[in-house]
Amino acid sequence: MPYAHITGWGCAAPEKILTNADLEQIVDTTNEWILERTGIHERRIAREDESTASLGLKAAWRALEMANIKPGEIDLIICATSTPEYIFPATACIIQDKLGASRAGAFDLSAACSGFIYGLNMGSQAIRSEALQTVLVIGAETLSRVTNWQDRNTCVLFGDGAGAFVLQASDQPGGVLSAVMRSDGSGAGLLSVPAGGSKHPATVETVKAGMHTIRMDGREVFRFATRVMAQATREVAEAAGLTIQDLQWIVPHQANFRIIDAAARGLKLPIERFIINLEKYGNTSTASIPLAVCEAAADGRIKVGDRIVLVGFGAGLTWGALAAEWTGPLPDGHQRIRPAISRFWARIRSFFQRFGRFIEGLIWGHKA
Ligand code: UT7
Repeated sequence: MPYAHITGWGCAAPEKILTNADLEQIVDTTNEWILERTGIHERRIAREDESTASLGLKAAWRALEMANIKPGEIDLIICATSTPEYIFPATACIIQDKLGASRAGAFDLSAACSGFIYGLNMGSQAIRSEALQTVLVIGAETLSRVTNWQDRNTCVLFGDGAGAFVLQASDQPGGVLSAVMRSDGSGAGLLSVPAGGSKHPATVETVKAGMHTIRMDGREVFRFATRVMAQATREVAEAAGLTIQDLQWIVPHQANFRIIDAAARGLKLPIERFIINLEKYGNTSTASIPLAVCEAAADGRIKVGDRIVLVGFGAGLTWGALAAEWTGPLPDGHQRIRPAISRFWARIRSFFQRFGRFIEGLIWGHKA
């Protein structure tokens, strides 16, 4: 059974920065409140000409470059997002076209902030089952487009960004080790964008009522998050045959420093074992985990051989975790064992097909 390795990663964030001081000018809030209650200093906001697909595309190119593969080698593109370009077609298809990933299937995955973990798990399962060789998983968001800039309870929290991982089959042990995916739809009303779907299609009234922007019961979501983060981390580590102490890094969904701190206490781990960058980006939903991984891999905190857990929660309610052994780009020999075999058989098949057509031509040509 092949292993699913994370062989490339990339991220992208808009250049425009919105600081807490900027927010003080927009709503009744203070830098002190935001910092103390969330840990967020600033967030990135997409320019008008940027979108979920353009950010996702940038992250995807960087991930492909890192993995040293061409778009034509991708079998499947999964784009986890809560802020797709359209209701349909899928944002993943827009990215597929711009990449020129001519043989890839593409679809969007809606599991809110847990979406990147869900997508990675789906991609790695497809590789483990030998159905696919190479999967591109993207988490991309422009939450600023569904933020109510008059609501201080929510507008101080969110930001825009994207991250992408390339998953590839290899016979070398490592890569994704285990995953858990959970949901509790009874909490659907705690965090949502109520209108714009089929239940409340866009009307003048829904727009006037602000129903196309994020509504959240922050306290309840907070309670739920602190309950599930430690529990999912424990579960996924156990499924991978690891103890919490075996983990070098936990990469949590970057929603609120206090939630991460509670998870650290729940797991009896020092906070230093958690990768945190929410102070710079705020909560970027599906993009938050890959953005944090990218930074930590780039500055050398996450190293080859490290065992890491990605853990997140979000609207739905959904939550999940994924354990992986970090390998990075694979050396050439290990990377394409299976594609090389497939290419060999494809050539043999094609030779016999051409040979068959040649013989057929000879026979029919003769008869004519
Ligand atoms: O990806 C998943 C997305 N969601 C989350 O992760 C959200 C999880 N929840 C949270 O992170 C926290 O609940 C919040 C950061 C949203 C809020 O923190 P809190 O400590 O739970 O505050 P609270 O909602 O209990 O509000 C405390 C007070 C309220 O005033 P009163 O009712 O006590 O007078 C709020 O009106 O703080 C007020 N408040 C603010 N004050 C200044 C709420 N937002 C602000 C603000 N600035 N931006």
